[in-house]
Amino acid sequence: MRRITVFRLCFCAWFLLSLPLVLASSAARQPSSQPKTDIIAHRGASGYAPEHTLSSYRLAACMQADYIEVDVQMTKDRKLIAMHDATLARTTNAETVYPRRAPWRVNDFSFAELRRLDAGSWFDPRFAGERIPTLEEVIQMLKAERVEAPLYIETKQPGIEEAVVHLLKKHGFLQQRRVMFQSFHPESLQALRPLIPYGIRLIQLVGKKEAHSGRDELLQQIAIYADGIGLPLSVVTEEWVRAAHGRGLIVHVYTVNEPHDLARLCTLGVDGLFTDYPDRPGRIAACRRLLHH
Ligand code: G3P
Ligand code: CA
Repeated sequence: MRRITVFRLCFCAWFLLSLPLVLASSAARQPSSQPKTDIIAHRGASGYAPEHTLSSYRLAACMQADYIEVDVQMTKDRKLIAMHDATLARTTNAETVYPRRAPWRVNDFSFAELRRLDAGSWFDPRFAGERIPTLEEVIQMLKAERVEAPLYIETKQPGIEEAVVHLLKKHGFLQQRRVMFQSFHPESLQALRPLIPYGIRLIQLVGKKEAHSGRDELLQQIAIYADGIGLPLSVVTEEWVRAAHGRGLIVHVYTVNEPHDLARLCTLGVDGLFTDYPDRPGRIAACRRLLHH
């Protein structure tokens, strides 16, 4: 009996003494628990090529962006096109081609009229002749060139959700979960939810003013119908990220181009960054290594 007691005492002593060593070695084996920060090509690789053109999307794919962002609007004749601004003046030669159509609102033009425009020269003469692509042309290019990166679609106007979903379904992007959605319009995300399969995420974009209106109420509201929040770079803090993650919301930040911002956001553990320069993920990886070696 005495011998068993001694054995038990020795075993317990050994176990307690060796516990820290066991824990340390298992921690070393575990992969870094650092969540991956997705690189989202903002309007394509729009730092290098005219935004929302096949050239900018192709470049984003070549730069291994994790997502390719496409802002989607609808023309007067109900064609879905890739375009950020509500008007054509900044990114096309509409003022020259249609001098009497001011203010050149996208929704006031048919697709055939838009097709006549040059959407590349404003950025650089090398891109003269780039066209405004349809969403379908973007999808076809990604499929033809075997691009793996999913689409990150922003619905720029409520009411286009069914048309967008129909197109994605037609090309298998919905079934393959090769898409994520975002919008500044809650009603657009709420309209999307019943149209899309489980597992496709909805991100509520928030502007500066809204973000300063009351974080916890805003997050509580968004968590009812969305899977994440898109925050402006100027708003993001550790508290914002912790509060959003605390409600099960992922955090995507727009738009992060400067290296010091990339480094700062690395420490905050955000889930994704919109950037015009998707070839800069190395800086993120580097600063992660730097911060967590
Ligand atoms: O969609 C993320 C970011 O693009 C939102 O701002 O104006 O660039 O569409 P904006
Ligand atoms: Ca956008």
